[in-house]
Amino acid sequence: MKLSSFGRKFTADAGITSLMDDLGNALASGDDMIMMGGGNPGHIPEIQARVQKILADMAQSDGDTRRLVGIYDPPQGEKQFIASLAELLNREYGWGLKPENIALTNGSQAAFFMLFNMFGGDYGDGVHKHVLLPLAPEYIGYADAGIEPGLFHAVQPDISFTDAHEFKYRVDFDAVEVTAETGAICVSRPTNPTGNVVTDEELARLEAMARQHDIPLIVDGAYGTPFPSLLFVDATPHWNDQVILCLSLSKFGLPAVRTGIVIAAEPVIKALSGINAIMNLATG
Ligand SMILES: Cc1ncc(COP(=O)(O)O)c(C=O)c1O
Repeated sequence: MKLSSFGRKFTADAGITSLMDDLGNALASGDDMIMMGGGNPGHIPEIQARVQKILADMAQSDGDTRRLVGIYDPPQGEKQFIASLAELLNREYGWGLKPENIALTNGSQAAFFMLFNMFGGDYGDGVHKHVLLPLAPEYIGYADAGIEPGLFHAVQPDISFTDAHEFKYRVDFDAVEVTAETGAICVSRPTNPTGNVVTDEELARLEAMARQHDIPLIVDGAYGTPFPSLLFVDATPHWNDQVILCLSLSKFGLPAVRTGIVIAAEPVIKALSGINAIMNLATG
């Protein structure tokens, strides 16, 4: 089989492919396993019972069943969900969101693929921009998401010891450099696999750097604020139009519904919806 450079790049060994293969095969083996890898959400019986009840009610309703399985939503995502989410976040946090600030994707993994390649890569005239990861280690699922090689610049952390057997990763701001070749900054909060949570102060400094260079700060909140909030330290939910906040329904127990949520300035959402239409037609 002869493949293009895209074909070769995305069929080569990738960390996330072998991780997901390992997880799937381990589960399929039928052994009594405790899944501790891959950001795998736990199964909480009470949540499962609640979801089961909602699904059973939906199956009884013609209209709900049609909405669930029989309709293509617009490429931006299901309108009622988006409107409800905007209202919820405005009520809780006063973010002033309009539905035009929110898009849904098939899992947040798909959002990262689109966003990284929207802001990183070939800008023409020989300009190639990277996505800056100011605090490594970072989520392995980013590593192979660039259509172009060398999409990421990652920075080693400052490690401060907080107790005899404890340490904390911090952004080494002396080493973080935003240049004319930086297309976006991205942090996951908390990070998979370390669980490190970038502090409010660190986030504010990164946002100031992004603002100064007129580039977005992508915040991956798959485990974070405002939900599912799998957090054991204080972290303030934060959004404004410098920030692209990516959320997910996966980590509070719905990974198979593949719902990623992107909250961003209107032009970002418009662009993302366009790419989503080409890649997926619509979001599940
Ligand atoms: C930090 C982080 N971000 C994003 C994702 C992607 O999750 P999903 O595509 O299910 O939303 C994961 C999955 O493990 C993750 O750990």
